[in-house]
Amino acid sequence: MKIEKVGVVGCGLMGHGIVQVAAQGGFEVIVVETEQTFLDKGIARIEKSLAKLARKAVEKGKQSEDDASAFVEMARGRIHPTLDKQELADCDLVIEAIVENMNVKKALLRELGDICKREAIFGSNTSSFSIAEMGEASGRPDRMVGLHFFNPVQLMKLVEVVRTDATDNEVYEAAKAFGKACGKAPVSCGDTPGFVVNRLLVPYMVQAIQMLDRGDATAEDIDTAMRFGCGHPMGPITLTDYVGLDTTLSILEGWCERYPDEPAFAIPRSLRRLVGEGQLGRKTGQGYFNWEGDKRV
Ligand SMILES: NC(=O)c1ccc[n+]([C@@H]2O[C@H](COP(=O)([O-])OP(=O)(O)OC[C@H]3O[C@@H](n4cnc5c(N)ncnc54)[C@H](O)[C@@H]3O)[C@@H](O)[C@H]2O)c1
Repeated sequence: MKIEKVGVVGCGLMGHGIVQVAAQGGFEVIVVETEQTFLDKGIARIEKSLAKLARKAVEKGKQSEDDASAFVEMARGRIHPTLDKQELADCDLVIEAIVENMNVKKALLRELGDICKREAIFGSNTSSFSIAEMGEASGRPDRMVGLHFFNPVQLMKLVEVVRTDATDNEVYEAAKAFGKACGKAPVSCGDTPGFVVNRLLVPYMVQAIQMLDRGDATAEDIDTAMRFGCGHPMGPITLTDYVGLDTTLSILEGWCERYPDEPAFAIPRSLRRLVGEGQLGRKTGQGYFNWEGDKRV
């Protein structure tokens, strides 16, 4: 099973990164959006990122200027933006990176099931939904995998490759090989909530916020403790601001509803309150900390 042509649906924060690493990995990429402005914005991000990579390679003496420009041109040349999903018909792998809404994702997978060739593999970049449910919606549960990339995709080395009970073994191996070809380190995981990283990370963030809510320690001290005591690059409270309080809450709400008996899934009081007040973290300038752009103030 050889993957040569890849489709990516959604060219937002994650989609544009997936498109870029796939093109860099040598794949032809069809990228689909709902509106031309979203497509243009995503492609502009990719072009900026490719130019930055090339500049750095030249500065570090890894590539000549000519080789760096040739690399950018080649990667950009492999990317084909469109608003027409029919262009995904002959893709070997189609990855969805659209909004985190199960009904919207299922509707898309149903549509892809009608459009794409029978051998096509379907991948989802979902952070929290069941891959098996999406596989059912596509009508080809044996061809469905999770391909969970991390933000920013261009820099983060990990991809979690998720298999369900129905995923065909060859499909799974092909998806892993694709992740590798994109320059990532693929890890295997079952179709469990949050896969590996978020299953460990989100309950850890919950514990930190609950500690703050109880008044056991300040936000600053919790973060300092984990940075200097555990060598983490950023503390859990800053991390929650980074991820977005609304995103964190919506993941937890989904899990608490589906797994009411799992004690690790809980919603801290302050999280719900701050989201209700529109304080969503770095993106709104206020969350557990105050932010100006990328910097805490
Ligand atoms: N943001 C993160 O840090 C992160 C990390 C890992 C995984 N994810 C997951 O990746 C997915 C995308 O998240 P994001 O942060 O890139 O979101 P985003 O809002 O930045 O991008 C989603 C894009 O999908 C497009 N879209 C929506 N419906 C579509 C459709 N039917 N057809 C074509 N395009 C459509 C939107 O126009 C938008 O540009 C989600 O499932 C999310 O859970 C996000």
